[in-house]
Amino acid sequence: MEIAQSLQQIQSSYIREILSAACNKNVISLAGGLPDEQAFPIDLMRPTLTQLAEMPNVFQYGATAGYGPLLDFLQHHFALPDSHKVMMCTGSQQGLDLIARAYINPGDTVVMEAPSYLGAMQVFGLVSANIVTVAQNAHGPDLVQLEQCFEQQSPKMFYAVPDFHNPTGVCWSLETRQQVAALCIKYNVAFIEDAPYRELRFSGNPIPLVSDFCPEHSIVLRSFSKIASPGLRLGAVSGKIAFLDPLIKVKQGADLHSSVPMQALLLGLLQHDNFGLHIDKIRALYKTRYQVLFDALQQQLPVTCGMNSVEGGMFIWVTLPECDTFALAKTLLANGVAVVPSPVFYPEAHPAQAALRLNFTNATAEELQEAVRRLTDVLHNTLAVI
Ligand SMILES: Cc1ncc(COP(=O)(O)O)c(C=O)c1O
Repeated sequence: MEIAQSLQQIQSSYIREILSAACNKNVISLAGGLPDEQAFPIDLMRPTLTQLAEMPNVFQYGATAGYGPLLDFLQHHFALPDSHKVMMCTGSQQGLDLIARAYINPGDTVVMEAPSYLGAMQVFGLVSANIVTVAQNAHGPDLVQLEQCFEQQSPKMFYAVPDFHNPTGVCWSLETRQQVAALCIKYNVAFIEDAPYRELRFSGNPIPLVSDFCPEHSIVLRSFSKIASPGLRLGAVSGKIAFLDPLIKVKQGADLHSSVPMQALLLGLLQHDNFGLHIDKIRALYKTRYQVLFDALQQQLPVTCGMNSVEGGMFIWVTLPECDTFALAKTLLANGVAVVPSPVFYPEAHPAQAALRLNFTNATAEELQEAVRRLTDVLHNTLAVI
């Protein structure tokens, strides 16, 4: 049976391949976007796990939008007005898929920053969207390019990760957030705000969501993967009711609803008295690891490489002189360190800046130091002969 044309154009995920190679115990992986499993709040989930045995109702089919008590909690927690609502999804990845299926016709234009989250490019590719990119700078998207693009191409939506971007770690400035919101209102473009790393801020001051400045023109995707556990597969989508209702319709066809026992478990966790302390703990842990990675890179990277500091999230983006980053990633793997080369974060036809994405949340401080030794040894040898 021939596979659909929309699927034929999707590259097999290089990340999956590299992640499986990185399982080798001699390899230190900075490739995945994995939280530290030692930091999963399993103790805080224990009371609800016990209570679930007495709650047969949550093992029944449930409502497509989500488990009622959790939705009520999140409506308040996210400070949503009555004109807006929240719906649960099977990871924020599913929220993205539902948005694409509910709103994108083949050929509709979706704007993204370049580079951008690979999973979003896959989702929009699967509905045959016309993906258009704008460059990203240290404060967010290039606003001149963005306005030109909005004016000339009338896109349907602008998808972005303003908080601690995957892969670059960039956090949009307040001014950029306000200006992007103003452009979305002016040109009637829906802003799809993907915020899975928002709670992982370990320095600097919190900044409002972009959507706070354009609440009628936006949909927000949140994830519980990074602050609770990815295996729960729970995320939330919020926005004005008219934007959310079509998503519920698509979700009915996709999976009826997300797991109700897992939603009840998440509610118990979010309401636990010590959940705030848990967030403080993971922020402190990731800050320490980030600092170890950043300092080691600063001391040992060849001068032709570059990187920016980050205030949260999971990634450092190391820029390189022009080179074959796939070949470099392969050599690095053979030398015991797994990283992700930059072209996977660009649409296929787009020229990629030579760079590597390094994760700092999953390896220990000692592993990070050893990984930098291996990485910079290879870089000094290969970049010297380019
Ligand atoms: C930017 C971005 N969006 C969405 C996701 C998917 O998250 P979830 O586990 O909630 O599906 C990820 C996962 O790494 C991500 O980096």
